[in-house]
Amino acid sequence: MPLPNTNPEITSSWKKLSAHFAEMQGASMKKMFAEDISRPEKLSLEWNDFLVDYSKNIISEETMHLLRQLAEEVKLRDAIAQYFSGDAINQTENRAVLHTALRAPESANIMVDGENVMPEIYAVKNKIKTFTEEVIHGKRKGFTGKTFTDIVNIGIGGSDLGPAMAVEALKFYANHLAVHFVSNIDGDHVQEILKKINPETTLFVVASKTFTTQETLTNAETIREWFLKSATQQDVAKHFVAVSTNIQKVTDFGIDPHNIFPMWDWVGGRFSLWSAVGLSVALAVGFENFDKLLKGAQAMDDHFKNTDFEKNIPVTLALLSIWYNNFFGAESEALIPYTQYLQKLAPYLQQGIMESNGKSIDRAGNPVSYQTGTIIWGEPGTNSQHAFFQLIHQGTKLIPTDFIGFVKPLYGNEDHHNKLMSNFFAQTEALLNGKNESQVQAEFAKQNLSAEQAGFLLPFKVFNGNKPTNTLLIQSLTPENLGALVSLYEHKIFVQGVIWNIFSYDQWGVELGKQLANSILDEINSGEIKPHDASTEMLLKHFLTQK
Ligand code: F6P
Repeated sequence: MPLPNTNPEITSSWKKLSAHFAEMQGASMKKMFAEDISRPEKLSLEWNDFLVDYSKNIISEETMHLLRQLAEEVKLRDAIAQYFSGDAINQTENRAVLHTALRAPESANIMVDGENVMPEIYAVKNKIKTFTEEVIHGKRKGFTGKTFTDIVNIGIGGSDLGPAMAVEALKFYANHLAVHFVSNIDGDHVQEILKKINPETTLFVVASKTFTTQETLTNAETIREWFLKSATQQDVAKHFVAVSTNIQKVTDFGIDPHNIFPMWDWVGGRFSLWSAVGLSVALAVGFENFDKLLKGAQAMDDHFKNTDFEKNIPVTLALLSIWYNNFFGAESEALIPYTQYLQKLAPYLQQGIMESNGKSIDRAGNPVSYQTGTIIWGEPGTNSQHAFFQLIHQGTKLIPTDFIGFVKPLYGNEDHHNKLMSNFFAQTEALLNGKNESQVQAEFAKQNLSAEQAGFLLPFKVFNGNKPTNTLLIQSLTPENLGALVSLYEHKIFVQGVIWNIFSYDQWGVELGKQLANSILDEINSGEIKPHDASTEMLLKHFLTQK
């Protein structure tokens, strides 16, 4: 069954929200906090290790009520059921969207084209388990009999960003294997990795859902050539494995069919971390931790699927994002994790969020008349405070920001952690309250400034505050909690796509550039430039004459 198809703008709740926005746009959060001391209890959610405080938003209970009505009117409940049950909701590619099945229990019954997919999923999971254990414990060896010390994941987009993010995030749980990532077609990227590794002790994981991606195939070929300078063709089988849906292409590349970890077309590239694309993660932290990551994601799936909208974390965060994007006109959202381990979370979610919801045609095939996909960006705190926070505090743009912090640090250094977390709490407080003229003047009074200096400096030192934030305070960065966090944002993407009435699971927008790059490559290789726009022609000529 296709997803429900409703233009959100014609719903009665959208109209009510527009009227409500006119009342709320000038509302002061500070005032709302002063008027209702129970605001944080009313506007926060507790679930497992998560406390999600969304009280620091420019919302009232009425706002949330209307946003939830909107979710009802676009039939979000039905859409959620379809999403989990294997309906072909990726209609433009005629596919189900079942990354959630990859973390479902073995006993689940999830049907695609009349067949339960769980036995296949668990067969691949068992293969990952056996393989990773053999590599980690040195049972599998390289072509000279040495145990593996390094893993190189060769992939791009979803076949790189997810594993790279999770390997970095779970470094605390890592074993002795050093995991490297080659993604860019830039030859310098691969060379920098090759400098660090020894062919005798390195295992290469070629991850590509389609096995047709130019970057991945070029990097894999370059690496195989480099490997064959020290080894024979036969040795390739010991050192190269692949993760793909395209068994034929993998075999054509020369990888032993026993070394293929299959995936399925109902796993979207940007949601494939939970499939065999996570092999590098399982190698880095062991299968048990990889499985915990999946279990955490699954717990969040259950929460999302079974919890009323009022208490539902992904639904709540998605609705808040709609509120700012479609009513306040906010263009971007920031994501600030207060742990260096999550330094790759924002780049990873950039693909998830922007490749999914960067669409302008609705599910009826018509151009949308409202804003869709938010721009997402971020860096860990406290580094980001010293980089771009000025703009969030005092710039002209409204940037709703998610702060993600942990109660307990992993190495237990209390001094550092208390300093880190005091910044975490201080930032959301500062963004809420700002600093008014009389507070600034009181500071000036202590500094003995002349009246002239004080008068000049005053407007620069005022912070308007009233900047919206969500605070996700999580117990600690365990594999389970990371899984739950990523799953939360995956479901937020889904909810927003349903409300915006767009198809979130295709990515036609990345195709045109790929096609043009192929024809320009022929021109560069032959030296014969075909007609282009005048700018592209000038640039190509310059490149060819100067190279
Ligand atoms: O960027 C487009 C895209 O298709 C992504 O959706 C995908 O994650 C990436 O390319 C890599 O694709 P593949 O895993 O097939 O190599």
